Amino acid sequence: MKEIRDYWEKRARVHGKSASTYMSGNKIYDVFFNTLMTFFHRRHLRAALQSCKPLSVLEVGCGYGRLLSTANASLKVGVDISLNILHFAKNKCKGAVILADTQYLPFRSKSFDLTYTCVVLQHVPYDKIGAVVNEIKRVTNRHILVIEPLPVFKHKDRPYAQGGYLFPHDYRKLFNLPISWNLRSPKFLRDEAILFSINTYGNKMRD
Ligand SMILES: C[S@@+](CC[C@H](N)C(=O)[O-])C[C@H]1O[C@@H](n2cnc3c(N)ncnc32)[C@H](O)[C@@H]1O
Repeated sequence: MKEIRDYWEKRARVHGKSASTYMSGNKIYDVFFNTLMTFFHRRHLRAALQSCKPLSVLEVGCGYGRLLSTANASLKVGVDISLNILHFAKNKCKGAVILADTQYLPFRSKSFDLTYTCVVLQHVPYDKIGAVVNEIKRVTNRHILVIEPLPVFKHKDRPYAQGGYLFPHDYRKLFNLPISWNLRSPKFLRDEAILFSINTYGNKMRD
Protein backbone atom coordinates (compact mmCIF):
# COMPACT_ATOMS: atom_id res chain seq x y z
CA MET A 1 0.00 0.00 0.00
CA LYS A 2 3.04 2.32 -0.02
CA GLU A 3 2.19 3.67 -3.44
CA ILE A 4 -1.34 4.44 -2.26
CA ARG A 5 -0.16 6.13 0.93
CA ASP A 6 2.39 8.25 -0.99
CA TYR A 7 -0.32 9.25 -3.42
CA TRP A 8 -2.66 10.54 -0.66
CA GLU A 9 0.15 12.25 1.27
CA LYS A 10 1.19 14.12 -1.85
CA ARG A 11 -2.38 14.94 -2.82
CA ALA A 12 -2.95 16.46 0.65
CA ARG A 13 0.30 18.45 0.47
CA VAL A 14 -0.74 19.92 -2.86
CA HIS A 15 -4.49 20.36 -2.38
CA GLY A 16 -4.93 20.60 1.40
CA LYS A 17 -8.31 19.63 2.75
CA SER A 18 -9.85 19.15 -0.71
CA ALA A 19 -7.48 16.24 -1.28
CA SER A 20 -10.08 13.78 -0.01
CA THR A 21 -12.89 15.22 -2.14
CA TYR A 22 -13.70 14.74 -5.83
CA MET A 23 -11.49 16.84 -8.11
CA SER A 24 -12.02 16.92 -11.86
CA GLY A 25 -10.04 20.10 -12.46
CA ASN A 26 -13.15 22.18 -13.14
CA LYS A 27 -13.67 24.12 -9.89
CA ILE A 28 -17.30 25.09 -10.44
CA TYR A 29 -18.29 21.54 -11.35
CA ASP A 30 -16.36 20.17 -8.35
CA VAL A 31 -18.12 22.45 -5.86
CA PHE A 32 -21.48 21.43 -7.30
CA PHE A 33 -20.61 17.71 -7.38
CA ASN A 34 -19.05 17.62 -3.89
CA THR A 35 -21.96 19.52 -2.33
CA LEU A 36 -24.51 17.11 -3.75
CA MET A 37 -22.38 14.06 -2.99
CA THR A 38 -21.90 15.18 0.61
CA PHE A 39 -25.63 15.77 1.00
CA PHE A 40 -26.44 12.18 -0.03
CA HIS A 41 -23.53 10.55 1.81
CA ARG A 42 -24.47 12.30 5.05
CA ARG A 43 -28.06 11.23 4.52
CA HIS A 44 -27.00 7.57 4.14
CA LEU A 45 -24.86 7.78 7.27
CA ARG A 46 -27.70 9.41 9.21
CA ALA A 47 -30.04 6.61 8.15
CA ALA A 48 -27.53 4.03 9.40
CA LEU A 49 -27.03 5.85 12.70
CA GLN A 50 -30.78 6.04 13.20
CA SER A 51 -31.33 2.36 12.52
CA CYS A 52 -28.28 1.04 14.44
CA LYS A 53 -28.12 3.53 17.31
CA PRO A 54 -24.42 2.73 17.82
CA LEU A 55 -22.52 3.72 20.93
CA SER A 56 -19.20 3.42 19.11
CA VAL A 57 -18.46 4.30 15.48
CA LEU A 58 -15.37 3.79 13.32
CA GLU A 59 -14.81 5.45 9.95
CA VAL A 60 -12.22 3.66 7.85
CA GLY A 61 -10.50 6.15 5.53
CA CYS A 62 -12.04 9.21 7.19
CA GLY A 63 -10.35 11.84 4.99
CA TYR A 64 -10.68 15.33 6.45
CA GLY A 65 -13.76 14.32 8.45
CA ARG A 66 -16.48 15.25 5.96
CA LEU A 67 -18.74 12.52 7.42
CA LEU A 68 -17.16 11.71 10.77
CA SER A 69 -17.68 15.30 11.97
CA THR A 70 -21.45 14.79 11.60
CA ALA A 71 -21.64 11.33 13.20
CA ASN A 72 -23.40 11.32 16.52
CA ALA A 73 -22.07 8.62 18.87
CA SER A 74 -20.52 8.45 22.34
CA LEU A 75 -17.26 7.16 20.89
CA LYS A 76 -16.18 8.00 17.37
CA VAL A 77 -12.86 7.17 15.78
CA GLY A 78 -11.47 7.80 12.31
CA VAL A 79 -8.51 6.11 10.69
CA ASP A 80 -6.73 7.16 7.53
CA ILE A 81 -3.56 6.16 5.72
CA SER A 82 -2.45 9.79 5.23
CA LEU A 83 -1.00 11.82 8.08
CA ASN A 84 -1.34 15.03 6.09
CA ILE A 85 -5.07 14.44 5.64
CA LEU A 86 -5.49 13.53 9.32
CA HIS A 87 -4.24 16.99 10.31
CA PHE A 88 -7.41 18.39 8.78
CA ALA A 89 -9.59 15.68 10.33
CA LYS A 90 -8.16 16.42 13.76
CA ASN A 91 -9.36 20.01 13.56
CA LYS A 92 -12.78 19.12 12.19
CA CYS A 93 -13.77 16.08 14.29
CA LYS A 94 -14.30 15.85 18.01
CA GLY A 95 -13.40 12.13 18.09
CA ALA A 96 -10.01 10.47 17.88
CA VAL A 97 -8.22 10.20 14.55
CA ILE A 98 -5.55 7.55 14.04
CA LEU A 99 -2.98 6.90 11.35
CA ALA A 100 -3.55 3.35 10.07
CA ASP A 101 -3.91 1.25 6.97
CA THR A 102 -7.30 -0.46 6.61
CA GLN A 103 -5.44 -3.73 6.20
CA TYR A 104 -4.19 -3.61 9.80
CA LEU A 105 -6.65 -1.82 12.06
CA PRO A 106 -5.16 -1.19 15.52
CA PHE A 107 -8.26 -2.29 17.47
CA ARG A 108 -9.45 -5.36 19.31
CA SER A 109 -12.02 -7.58 17.69
CA LYS A 110 -15.64 -6.37 17.92
CA SER A 111 -14.62 -2.92 19.17
CA PHE A 112 -17.20 -0.89 17.23
CA ASP A 113 -20.98 -1.10 16.97
CA LEU A 114 -20.85 0.48 13.52
CA THR A 115 -17.93 0.59 11.10
CA TYR A 116 -18.34 2.47 7.85
CA THR A 117 -16.41 3.43 4.74
CA CYS A 118 -17.20 5.99 2.09
CA VAL A 119 -15.34 6.15 -1.23
CA VAL A 120 -12.36 4.27 0.23
CA LEU A 121 -12.66 0.61 -0.76
CA GLN A 122 -12.60 1.57 -4.43
CA HIS A 123 -8.94 2.53 -3.82
CA VAL A 124 -8.00 -0.91 -2.46
CA PRO A 125 -6.43 -3.16 -5.12
CA TYR A 126 -7.96 -6.56 -5.94
CA ASP A 127 -5.19 -8.52 -4.23
CA LYS A 128 -5.72 -6.64 -0.93
CA ILE A 129 -9.48 -6.19 -0.78
CA GLY A 130 -10.18 -9.61 0.81
CA ALA A 131 -7.83 -8.84 3.72
CA VAL A 132 -9.33 -5.35 4.15
CA VAL A 133 -12.90 -6.68 4.24
CA ASN A 134 -11.90 -9.32 6.83
CA GLU A 135 -10.24 -6.65 8.96
CA ILE A 136 -13.34 -4.44 8.89
CA LYS A 137 -15.49 -7.44 9.85
CA ARG A 138 -13.09 -8.34 12.66
CA VAL A 139 -13.27 -4.97 14.46
CA THR A 140 -17.05 -4.66 14.08
CA ASN A 141 -19.54 -5.83 16.63
CA ARG A 142 -22.88 -5.12 14.94
CA HIS A 143 -23.12 -3.25 11.64
CA ILE A 144 -21.04 -2.28 8.62
CA LEU A 145 -22.06 0.53 6.31
CA VAL A 146 -20.42 0.63 2.91
CA ILE A 147 -20.98 3.78 0.83
CA GLU A 148 -19.04 3.10 -2.32
CA PRO A 149 -19.37 3.42 -6.08
CA LEU A 150 -21.41 0.76 -7.84
CA PRO A 151 -19.10 -1.75 -9.53
CA VAL A 152 -19.66 -0.13 -12.92
CA PHE A 153 -16.44 1.86 -13.14
CA LYS A 154 -14.03 0.94 -15.90
CA HIS A 155 -10.36 0.79 -14.98
CA LYS A 156 -8.58 3.90 -15.98
CA ASP A 157 -5.46 3.13 -17.87
CA ARG A 158 -2.88 4.98 -15.80
CA PRO A 159 -0.86 4.26 -12.64
CA TYR A 160 -2.41 4.97 -9.23
CA ALA A 161 0.26 7.55 -8.45
CA GLN A 162 -0.97 9.68 -11.36
CA GLY A 163 -4.47 9.69 -10.00
CA GLY A 164 -7.54 7.75 -10.71
CA TYR A 165 -6.78 4.04 -10.93
CA LEU A 166 -9.88 2.62 -9.27
CA PHE A 167 -10.94 -0.92 -8.43
CA PRO A 168 -14.61 -1.74 -8.83
CA HIS A 169 -15.57 -4.32 -6.21
CA ASP A 170 -18.72 -6.34 -5.60
CA TYR A 171 -19.30 -5.52 -1.92
CA ARG A 172 -22.31 -7.80 -1.44
CA LYS A 173 -20.22 -10.80 -2.42
CA LEU A 174 -17.12 -9.66 -0.57
CA PHE A 175 -18.78 -9.01 2.81
CA ASN A 176 -21.11 -11.99 2.51
CA LEU A 177 -23.32 -10.82 5.40
CA PRO A 178 -27.08 -10.27 5.77
CA ILE A 179 -28.11 -6.90 4.32
CA SER A 180 -30.35 -4.68 6.47
CA TRP A 181 -30.98 -2.14 3.73
CA ASN A 182 -29.57 -0.69 0.56
CA LEU A 183 -29.95 2.92 -0.62
CA ARG A 184 -28.96 4.30 -4.01
CA SER A 185 -27.74 7.85 -4.49
CA PRO A 186 -29.07 9.64 -7.61
CA LYS A 187 -27.85 8.06 -10.85
CA PHE A 188 -25.15 10.60 -11.70
CA LEU A 189 -23.32 9.90 -8.42
CA ARG A 190 -23.16 6.21 -9.33
CA ASP A 191 -22.87 4.99 -5.76
CA GLU A 192 -24.89 3.11 -3.19
CA ALA A 193 -25.02 2.55 0.55
CA ILE A 194 -25.35 -0.98 1.92
CA LEU A 195 -25.92 -1.64 5.60
CA PHE A 196 -24.69 -5.10 6.56
CA SER A 197 -25.70 -6.74 9.79
CA ILE A 198 -23.01 -8.72 11.53
CA ASN A 199 -24.73 -9.56 14.78
CA THR A 200 -28.51 -9.44 14.86
CA TYR A 201 -28.67 -10.93 18.37
CA GLY A 202 -26.66 -7.90 19.60
CA ASN A 203 -29.16 -5.57 17.91
CA LYS A 204 -32.07 -7.02 19.82
CA MET A 205 -30.22 -6.75 23.12
CA ARG A 206 -29.38 -3.09 22.51
CA ASP A 207 -32.88 -2.05 21.29
C1 LIG B 1 -11.91 9.80 -1.50
S1 LIG B 1 -11.25 9.98 0.12
C2 LIG B 1 -12.74 9.74 1.10
C3 LIG B 1 -12.61 10.32 2.50
C4 LIG B 1 -13.84 10.18 3.38
N1 LIG B 1 -14.21 8.80 3.58
C5 LIG B 1 -15.01 10.96 2.83
O1 LIG B 1 -15.96 10.33 2.37
O2 LIG B 1 -14.97 12.18 2.85
C6 LIG B 1 -10.38 8.45 0.37
C7 LIG B 1 -9.62 8.42 1.69
O3 LIG B 1 -9.22 7.07 1.95
C8 LIG B 1 -7.92 7.10 2.48
N2 LIG B 1 -7.35 5.77 2.18
C9 LIG B 1 -7.06 5.23 0.97
N3 LIG B 1 -6.55 4.01 1.11
C10 LIG B 1 -6.51 3.76 2.46
C11 LIG B 1 -6.08 2.66 3.25
N4 LIG B 1 -5.56 1.56 2.70
N5 LIG B 1 -6.17 2.75 4.59
C12 LIG B 1 -6.69 3.87 5.19
N6 LIG B 1 -7.12 4.92 4.49
C13 LIG B 1 -7.02 4.89 3.14
C14 LIG B 1 -7.24 8.25 1.76
O4 LIG B 1 -6.12 8.73 2.47
C15 LIG B 1 -8.37 9.27 1.67
O5 LIG B 1 -8.39 10.14 2.76
